Amino acid sequence: MTPSRSAYLDHAATTPMSAAAIEAYTEQLAMTGNPSSLHASGRRARRVVEESREQVAAALGARPSEVIFTGGGTEADNLAVKGLFWSRRVAHPERRRILISTVEHHAVLDPAFWMAEHAGAEIVLLAVDATGAVDVAALRAELAEHASETALISIMWANNEVGTIQPVAEVVAAARSHGIPVHSDAVQAVGHVPVDFAASGLDALTVSAHKLGGPVGVGALVAKRTLELTPVLHGGGQERGVRSGTLDAAGIRSFAVALGAAVASVPESTVRLARLRDRLVAGIRAAVPTATLRGPEPSSGGDDRRLPGNVHFTFSGCEGDSLLYLLDSAGVQASTGSACQAGVPQPSHVLLAMGVGEDDARGALRFTLGETSTDEDIDLVLDVLPDVVARASAAGLASAGLGTSRNRGSQEVH
Ligand SMILES: Cc1ncc(COP(=O)(O)O)c(C=O)c1O
Repeated sequence: MTPSRSAYLDHAATTPMSAAAIEAYTEQLAMTGNPSSLHASGRRARRVVEESREQVAAALGARPSEVIFTGGGTEADNLAVKGLFWSRRVAHPERRRILISTVEHHAVLDPAFWMAEHAGAEIVLLAVDATGAVDVAALRAELAEHASETALISIMWANNEVGTIQPVAEVVAAARSHGIPVHSDAVQAVGHVPVDFAASGLDALTVSAHKLGGPVGVGALVAKRTLELTPVLHGGGQERGVRSGTLDAAGIRSFAVALGAAVASVPESTVRLARLRDRLVAGIRAAVPTATLRGPEPSSGGDDRRLPGNVHFTFSGCEGDSLLYLLDSAGVQASTGSACQAGVPQPSHVLLAMGVGEDDARGALRFTLGETSTDEDIDLVLDVLPDVVARASAAGLASAGLGTSRNRGSQEVH
């Protein structure tokens, strides 16, 4: 039976395209022309790409020549990690260390570990505190000893599971005196909190369109012109020779439109979403006192270390997947936020890194708010959650007794 009310609270996985982005997208889809072609249609498409590049750069505090369009966040992260490592290794073979935090998205973690397996990299995982924030003192200590062996640092701007905003400025400051390039996966931050590439001092930054109202399959790596990047994709030599492949003029146009609007609305949307977030956090705490908020405590002052649209709780004695399916039946679309392997739900690497026990970590639930979120969405969650938690808890007790739990899983990691 379809529930009569519904709430989409999984905006960190993907958020609806804005009307303007859909309009820009469909308008461009109707046009022909490869931006690399020299005839009139090609030149028109090239103009669309270059104007969009200017808009993307302006929205991110970057120069147009620093924007490398990619097929999304995963590709940009791969280009940053692999491209930087390879280029650094050519000049300095002794620089084998890749420093990343324990809470990175798999789009950074997996290329880094792939480089360890196939390209001689050594991975150094930087610890986080109980809120998921990177330990900058540990980074400084690591650099004091091993800076000359370090190829690059990659620390996300904001965590996709628990919403922790990382101390990017401190990371950059620690790396600067050693001349080590820093990349940041800002997929969950751009359009949600202020992000200025030039002001950040970063060498490279990843952004993805479908997290901010644009289409899936387009994004960018913003990279300083002086940054050497070895290409990961080889072919026609587009995008400074660093990212071959025919440019997706329609996707890029739509991305630029969505990004411009999302960034312009940050001051207003931050306040609106943080209010909804704080209502949801307070409501869940009141309705389910055994639930534990993970990630930083929300703050309404200027020192909020949590994404305005992120709410993440663990529910002791429950399986996240059970919570997710029961909520879905009640019309609420949320996420556990973590991955599974071969159909078996795995406790989130992010929660484990924060010191959460395996059993507690299995009961994770993430609600992420976006442009279309309303007070009615929060009302619905708070109406149905107590019963959902009671049922998931009973199911958890039953399966613990029978030893049959954890045999069903979703594939989630956004
Ligand atoms: C932090 C983070 N990085 C990277 C990605 C991957 O981006 P995309 O879906 O555009 O490949 C995601 C999306 O789930 C993300 O949340």
